Amino acid sequence: MRFDILTIFPEIFDSYIKESIIKRAQEKDLIEIHIHDIRSFSKDKHKKVDDIPFGGGAGMVMTAQPLHDAITAIKKLNKGPVIYLTPQGKTLTQTKVEKFAKLPGMIFLCGRYEGIDQRIRDTLIDQEISIGSYVLTGGELPALTILDAVSRLIPGVLGKENSHLEDSFSKAFNRKKEYPHYTRPANFKGMEVPEVLRSGDHKKIDKWRKSKLK
Ligand code: ADE
Repeated sequence: MRFDILTIFPEIFDSYIKESIIKRAQEKDLIEIHIHDIRSFSKDKHKKVDDIPFGGGAGMVMTAQPLHDAITAIKKLNKGPVIYLTPQGKTLTQTKVEKFAKLPGMIFLCGRYEGIDQRIRDTLIDQEISIGSYVLTGGELPALTILDAVSRLIPGVLGKENSHLEDSFSKAFNRKKEYPHYTRPANFKGMEVPEVLRSGDHKKIDKWRKSKLK
């Protein structure tokens, strides 16, 4: 899966995509991530990417030219949908994530300020997605959220040692249920791990876990 991300803050992505499972997924060529600075597409002599809104009002609007040039250039390299992250979009769900994971690629447009020129929304955006009913300062965290949720569903990304998670996590999602987890030490500040989990009796353990599903 190829991800292309358009942002005016490319550095936000640096550390997240260089760690852990997302890092290994790239090393294994299961995902490819390309971060693009929208500013580098600006034809303005000061590389401006925003301007005041027609009709007045607070805040700035991201201008059409850099967005148009960036999106049209990237669409030649990535056959996936162009997704604009905005609190006005359709709310992300695990069902949507599962559909996204089957695509050949995804292009994320991260908005800032009051939003983007409506003509870009009308002509170049395929889907508008929100990650929840709250307002963030930009679409960068939502883009990372979707990239992360989609990547872990691509076969091979979770690896052998974590592959069981794929199953239990999606089942847990469907039922919205999980059992309690414990790790060493068996006694932490006087709080004991339930004896059954240390018994080695897997039938008993399964029964106990089912009885504790929340
Ligand atoms: N941009 C700002 N807030 C957002 C949200 N909740 N979801 C997606 N994009 C956003």
